[in-house]
Amino acid sequence: MNINEIFANLDYGPAPEAKDMANGWLDGHGRKFGHFIDGQFTPHKKGFTSINPATEEELARISNGTKVDVDKAVKAARVALPLWQALSGFERAKYLYAIARQLQKHSRLFAVLESMDNGKVIRESRDADIPLAVRHFYHHAGWAMHVETRFKGYSPYGVCGQIIPWNFPLLMLSWKIAPALAAGNTLVLKPAEFTPLTALLFAQICSEAGLPKGVVNIVTGEGETGAAIVEHEDVDKIAFTGSTEVGKIIRKTTAGTGKGLSLELGGKSPYIVFENADIDSAIEGLVDAIWFNQGEVCCAGSRLLVHESIETIFIEKLKARMDKLRVGDPLDKSMDMGALVAPIQVQNIKKMLEQGKKEGCTIYEAKGKIPATGSFLKPTLITDVSPAHSLVSEEIFGPVLVALSFRNPDEAVALANNTKYGLAASVWSENINLALDIAPRIKSGIVWINCTNQLDASAGFGGYKESGFGREGGAEGMVSYLKRDWEAKLKPYVLEQPRKAAEVKNSSSIDHTAKNYIGGKQARGDSGYSRQVISQNGAMIGTVAEGNRKDIRNGVEAARKGLGWGSKPAHFRAQILYYLGENLDYRRQEFAERLRQLNSLSAAAAKNEVDLSIQRLFAYAGWADKYDGAVHNVPIRAIAAAMIEPMGVIGIVAPQNFALLASISMLAPAIAMGNSVVLVPSDNAPLAMTDFYQIIQTSDVPDGVINIITGGSNDLAKTLAEHDGVDALWFAGDQAGSVMVEKASTGNLKQVWTNLGKDLNWSDSEKFAGDYFLQKATQVKNVWIPYGA
Ligand code: NAI
Ligand code: MG
Repeated sequence: MNINEIFANLDYGPAPEAKDMANGWLDGHGRKFGHFIDGQFTPHKKGFTSINPATEEELARISNGTKVDVDKAVKAARVALPLWQALSGFERAKYLYAIARQLQKHSRLFAVLESMDNGKVIRESRDADIPLAVRHFYHHAGWAMHVETRFKGYSPYGVCGQIIPWNFPLLMLSWKIAPALAAGNTLVLKPAEFTPLTALLFAQICSEAGLPKGVVNIVTGEGETGAAIVEHEDVDKIAFTGSTEVGKIIRKTTAGTGKGLSLELGGKSPYIVFENADIDSAIEGLVDAIWFNQGEVCCAGSRLLVHESIETIFIEKLKARMDKLRVGDPLDKSMDMGALVAPIQVQNIKKMLEQGKKEGCTIYEAKGKIPATGSFLKPTLITDVSPAHSLVSEEIFGPVLVALSFRNPDEAVALANNTKYGLAASVWSENINLALDIAPRIKSGIVWINCTNQLDASAGFGGYKESGFGREGGAEGMVSYLKRDWEAKLKPYVLEQPRKAAEVKNSSSIDHTAKNYIGGKQARGDSGYSRQVISQNGAMIGTVAEGNRKDIRNGVEAARKGLGWGSKPAHFRAQILYYLGENLDYRRQEFAERLRQLNSLSAAAAKNEVDLSIQRLFAYAGWADKYDGAVHNVPIRAIAAAMIEPMGVIGIVAPQNFALLASISMLAPAIAMGNSVVLVPSDNAPLAMTDFYQIIQTSDVPDGVINIITGGSNDLAKTLAEHDGVDALWFAGDQAGSVMVEKASTGNLKQVWTNLGKDLNWSDSEKFAGDYFLQKATQVKNVWIPYGA
């Protein structure tokens, strides 16, 4: 091409990044890898190959980790654990710092290797993936210094099993490894089968940084290797990022094992553009939201919701911008989009598009060229779709944007929330009032205002609903790698033998049947059956409704109607809790008498339980306006406001013992944080809570905030666990029940807390008047707002 031609067409010339260094590293290992276990690479064994999806060339042969390999790695991590924990925070910090330095030193090699293995463009691996990974290790070197003082009373889990996907191989590795190490855990990590190379290079970095052997172990392999980690008995915590489908499998496998679990799953994040947005900025943002990393991003802004009044012009500008995107060689520094991770991913997306066509939609492909070979796809836009269309509801995980329009803000919110996912959202409007009105109404873990895809180590990242639970990054993320010391020291909880009536009384002497309490009213049980309440010494003292599925459904429906409680000012919620406490105080003698009668408590014990219940109500009234969020220091001209939001509807199943106090100890933090509740009280001493109806009614609690259904605890717990209208479930009962509710809750991946079949001393105010249940009653939404620009 001569200079005249260049001036004539102003085309880009090739600007390739050299791959010698990466090839040199691969050749140095004979292009064959084993695992990294106990500080050493094991010999290569049979497995699979990692390819470069842009060129289809084989990069290296990778070993497929077996159960035996996983076991060796877990053992190495177990042996290393006490030594690692014996180090001071300062010493651990120095290792994390050394890793960050080494990553930085080798950043070019990492970037090129990542682009070769994954297909992402070098511009992104060089400017986003690697720097963010480095930043993560620096940030967590700081946590290693401060974790002991900031999280007093917590300990690391122990050995962590970590499974990561292929879309951001090194970055996801750093999101997992940095906080785990900072908290004092050791670990076994499995990279994704499509992209194991930077994890293996990272293993080498660990050695260079002098990290003690066995602290970090990398086992390569496919799904089965991942499953072997999840199933391993000696792994204390599982952290997973990947598909919702596999997330659900892992939820089932770990149910009842006591393993910690955090899940970072899929998304179908809305990108909302109002008519008063800066349209050109919103277009540039959208390019980043959906065509960054070929759209293989869990938080991709893959659902455009655009104000009807600007729809035509916006789509027109968008198409013009799409036509300019350059797709091609990932190692070319001036490419916008590279290859998808593997041919199978391209095939799957094409299949989804075929299906979409059948359902009727318009597909627009960008005009630019794509290479004839390799896993490339054109930037694609889908229009003429309704919310029910499969391309609108399913995660595509590729460079495909679907567009819908809305007429007003309420409709935008309704469309945005019309998804099983809840990872992220972007809101574009130059009207700050509008943007900040929309942000709290969207059910997602992250909201970006007039920006998109902003991530930082200091701000928690993670989802609502089926996008998973747990956060990565910042203090919120550190909590996922720590557990309370006292939880390790509990004794098993033993169910009481069924109480038998010692004497047969004629029915006329029995109190009327206590009903359920639903939507602010006493409601007769659906079955019409009642359940006898027998005192511990065999006296028949009353009957309650035998609740069933239908009653739970009614309770949940009422609770969903009561959700407006969450947007009431915290001060107001505090007043109601104080009022509940005050009204219980008026009737403390009566409640103490009831407890004596039900559970043969001594007068002093009964009085103590009632007094503590009153104290709990006061404690959480006090917390209502004090357990609040944070403003994170992110390194761009924005703030990330970590807002504390309620979970929604919480199902609570109380244990048999502490008939009043246990229920109140869970009810109070749940409603203090703005949740509404469906409570199943102690199933052998429910009268303590049915008496409480009158306290609720005289304390101005809005209808639907507290609903109470009596009956068999484990049966009702199962219905609550399976109900998609329940956002979180707390279960205190026997071991079998704990396992059952965790298994049964996979449907909507509700967040489940159980006592793991352990006996809790509910009178311990240090544990149960503090933030233990407040943490479980809330989820953090990080709202990124431009600031100081
Ligand atoms: P995947 O969920 O199967 O893979 C993620 C990781 O889990 C990999 O390391 C894999 O080896 C491992 N794995 C697979 N089965 C496992 C099991 N039973 N137990 C333990 N570990 C297991 O995702 P895949 O098949 O690679 O991609 C399929 C779709 O999933 C994508 O098209 C996308 O829609 C979604 N996805 C979402 C991600 C996200 O970040 N939200 C990341 C990767 C995939
Ligand atoms: Mg590869």
